[in-house]
Amino acid sequence: MEQLATLEKNQPSWYSNFTKQSRASSSVERRTENPCVPSSILGPGTMLTVVFIIILVLLFTFSYAGLRGAPWVPTKNNDMARFLRLANIQPGEKMYDLGCGDGRMVCAAGSAGAQAKGFEVSVFPFLIAKLRRLLQKNKKNISIAFRDFWFINLRDADVVYVFLMPKIYERLEEKFKKELRPGARVITYVWPLEAWQPQEISEEKGFPKMYSYIVPQH
Ligand SMILES: C[S@@+](CC[C@H](N)C(=O)[O-])C[C@H]1O[C@@H](n2cnc3c(N)ncnc32)[C@H](O)[C@@H]1O
Repeated sequence: MEQLATLEKNQPSWYSNFTKQSRASSSVERRTENPCVPSSILGPGTMLTVVFIIILVLLFTFSYAGLRGAPWVPTKNNDMARFLRLANIQPGEKMYDLGCGDGRMVCAAGSAGAQAKGFEVSVFPFLIAKLRRLLQKNKKNISIAFRDFWFINLRDADVVYVFLMPKIYERLEEKFKKELRPGARVITYVWPLEAWQPQEISEEKGFPKMYSYIVPQH
């Protein structure tokens, strides 16, 4: 070893520069051994930023939904049967859930034979709805879209389900009047459409009311 060191010492300067450079480049290669996973991606700072961005997206879409319709509160499991009875879905009918949350009503309607579509803008319930749909036997009947329902035309709906904040119901009534065909059914949970005459009000002790409407001739 000593001999080697003395040998290196006695080399001309161009040789020692060359060996320094090649040592440096081989250490760079060692650091980026796996080109598919650059070490900077795995750093704790980057992970924190990703988590922060995910939380921001969840919060932003949750607040957006709250302003545009309602925050996510699911219909009680016990009330799903009441919805199916009121909706009286016939095979092939089109059912829309405006703000479908975790997709429970859309999946229930799909299981009853409807072509069921849910629209959702809050990322967290949207992902649960997507997952729930995947686990359904008849998933071909069911679709979950990441869309704001105010931008959806309802002209081909047979049944529309609504569980939203009453402050938007006046605007929603206008939309229904413009877009829904006469004879289409609207079912609301908890709050009624103030300007409409319900066909039936379903009441059950300890549970919110459910209102069913039939769109009149224009
Ligand atoms: C009270 S929850 C009802 C959820 C579901 N329909 C149920 O009954 O279980 C209202 C849902 O509507 C969604 N929402 C609110 N405004 C919306 C909009 N403009 N477009 C799509 N979804 C909306 C919310 O994110 C929330 O999940």
